[in-house]
Amino acid sequence: MDPTITDLPRRRILFRILVSLQGVLVSIVGLPAVAFLLSPLRRVSPEDSWVRVGAVSDLSPDGPVAMRYSMTVRDGYSRSETRGLVFLTRREDQLVALSAVCTHLGCNVSWRQAEAVFACPCHGGKYTPDGDVAAGPPPRPLKSIPVKVERGTIYISPLSVAERATRS
Ligand code: FES
Repeated sequence: MDPTITDLPRRRILFRILVSLQGVLVSIVGLPAVAFLLSPLRRVSPEDSWVRVGAVSDLSPDGPVAMRYSMTVRDGYSRSETRGLVFLTRREDQLVALSAVCTHLGCNVSWRQAEAVFACPCHGGKYTPDGDVAAGPPPRPLKSIPVKVERGTIYISPLSVAERATRS
């Protein structure tokens, strides 16, 4: 029998086994590497876990106080600066933070001390001091934002704010 004829199927089988092993090896090494490289694209997050907005001494016993925040949001490989406004209210020994963004179309509300409401300048929406809808077209209450105080400094949780920033 001619040895080259019997070797041919063996060579093919060996070649296929090597190609299969190579595929397995690429999968084992390559897929985690690709997943690692693409992982930032799945993340939208602020760079800091809490954002400083002001001091407890800035609060007023008369009503909500507007405080500005600024933070860097990472979205995939890009970074952007987000700024916004929150209202902080001291209630007994609690501190409440509400987003200033109207839930109708996103204008910033302002606090009207005389009426004791948050008022939206765009379409006349009004909210109670707790952020509940009092009048107008807003479909939902003002967003409540997690808040904490450390050594007299007020911080808000940027994650909830970042969600809003990326949706708008
Ligand atoms: S955006 Fe505030 S009422 Fe329309």
